[in-house]
Amino acid sequence: MKKFAVFGNPIAQSLSPTIHQMFADQLGETISYEKILAPEDGFVEAATTFLAQDGAIGCNVTMPFKLDAFNFAKVDDQAAKDAQAVNTLMNDDNGKVLGYNTDGIGLVNDLLNNDVEIQGKRVLLIGAGGAARGVISPLIEAGAASLTIANRTKAKAEQVANAVSNSKVQVVALEDIASVAPHIIINSTAASLSNELPCSLNNGVLRNCDVVYDMVYKNSPTRFMREAAEAGVENQIDGLGMLVEQAAEAFYIWTQKRPDTSDIVKRVRDIVEQGEKRN
Ligand code: ATR
Repeated sequence: MKKFAVFGNPIAQSLSPTIHQMFADQLGETISYEKILAPEDGFVEAATTFLAQDGAIGCNVTMPFKLDAFNFAKVDDQAAKDAQAVNTLMNDDNGKVLGYNTDGIGLVNDLLNNDVEIQGKRVLLIGAGGAARGVISPLIEAGAASLTIANRTKAKAEQVANAVSNSKVQVVALEDIASVAPHIIINSTAASLSNELPCSLNNGVLRNCDVVYDMVYKNSPTRFMREAAEAGVENQIDGLGMLVEQAAEAFYIWTQKRPDTSDIVKRVRDIVEQGEKRN
């Protein structure tokens, strides 16, 4: 039995055990995958205990522990280095714990699954928290012509852009996003969870835009997606596919087996929608 877990605080809501069990069933692996609630100041101890068990292969890490995991692990993965955040840990053969970040590749793969062309496109990224940091270099590597960050607190966007230090990565004030004329807008903020828009959409910013992506997947379509659709944006995508794809990349790192995600995204969406109907 290969043992896995996800660490977070809170963690009860996590869909990761369900998603990884689906991958394991599809690929003929026998696994256990548990949710572990670590105390806010107790991530390293909890992860160390888990990873020392017989059969423990690795674990996922979610809020608020991605920076703790980055500091704890041996990090060779460029995406994790760029994001200064780790969402996947794995025991290696030499007693070390390796750290990876699969969030960005998860987003890029979900965009590609949805037939979104990234190559040569201007991308506007709203938000400058951990969720934003993880996706910047993967989007540039996927061929984005430019990636412009806009954030409520502009100084934070500037810090994030300076840390990446790539001429394709720029910052714009939230009031000036129309000047970017983006083809793709990605919302990495949690604004949708409180039914708020992450940025104004009626200022001309949608002129060239044919895709909006909301990393939130609860109560989809979110207000951001609905208002973009009403304003004529062709394609609105929520973050459920990214959740499944970041998990698929972690599963691949751990097992060297790559799940086929198309059917699994649909099954996970059914589970999310059933849960929302009950509430
Ligand atoms: P995460 O790691 O999930 O990205 P975070 O580090 O707390 O979470 O970052 C949250 C991001 O969403 C920030 O960019 C935040 O803007 P500030 O830096 O100005 O705080 C942004 N954010 C949160 N709520 C928002 C809202 N209602 N409207 C716009 N931006 C919001």
